[in-house]
Amino acid sequence: MGTRSYAWLAAPITAFAVFSLTAGILSAHDPRSKAYFRLFFSDPIHLKAGFATAAVALACFQVFSAAWIFRKLPWQKPAWINPAHRWSGRLVFVCILPVAYHCIFKLGWQGADSRTLAHSLFGTLFFGAYAAKITIVRLHRFPRLVLPIAGGLVFTLLIGLWYTSALWLYRQDASAAPPAAAAPASANAANGARVFAIAGCGGCHTLSAAHSTGAVGPNLDDLRPSFEQVRQKVEGGGGGMPAFGSKLSEAQIRDVAAFVSTRARSG
Ligand code: HEC
Repeated sequence: MGTRSYAWLAAPITAFAVFSLTAGILSAHDPRSKAYFRLFFSDPIHLKAGFATAAVALACFQVFSAAWIFRKLPWQKPAWINPAHRWSGRLVFVCILPVAYHCIFKLGWQGADSRTLAHSLFGTLFFGAYAAKITIVRLHRFPRLVLPIAGGLVFTLLIGLWYTSALWLYRQDASAAPPAAAAPASANAANGARVFAIAGCGGCHTLSAAHSTGAVGPNLDDLRPSFEQVRQKVEGGGGGMPAFGSKLSEAQIRDVAAFVSTRARSG
């Protein structure tokens, strides 16, 4: 049985196109506010980051074990390395399932800034590249360089995904929250409580003053954001939070920012 001809590349390329497009199409919606889960993480965004980080660690082992399998390492190839490579690959898949679920079906495609745009793009391409790699492995006997190139592409996209999301998030967590600025006198916090209810902020956020227990976005009692922080986030959205700039008036946004920034408290 010889090597397949390059015409067979049509199969993985088709898988790549079909899976990338499907992921892109399925994720073409506004962020949804229901059916998230967070397991033992503080919120679904940290759950995504945790599983993505595990996937990256496993992927590093994938590259390492692949190099061993193809005898690129100075040591003898042990018998367990093939199954270890296969099983770590399957575990990568298990790790990306909860991530994919939230990215594709809940948060959706985001392109408001270059980070989320790059992340959305890497994400859709990743599913295509993963499908292409599996196709190549399953069909066997491709020309020698095809598999390492496909594997390398999957790995590169995964690192890109992780860099634009989890690593970014952990850096955000590490940087201290800016000092609170007082709400301007023109803003009406009592009216802001109504805006909070009407806009459905509570579906995604916990805020004791509004008796809400949403757990999609950060807990606002813990975060205690400043007036300006809330105002900007509500107006512009981003990172899984919908933008309300076109749905709420400027005064309503000021009011809800005054409400959240003055009434959020820990405990
Ligand atoms: C569909 C779910 C959803 C809804 C609805 C929603 N948010 Fe968010 N919100 C999020 C997510 C997810 C984040 C985290 C975004 C990030 O990490 O950049 C967030 C972040 C925030 C932050 C933190 C900003 C910061 O600087 O860290 C504030 C404040 C906030 N939202 C307020 C609101 C208010 C007020 C409303 C209602 C007008 C609202 N949110 C509606 C999901 C939502």
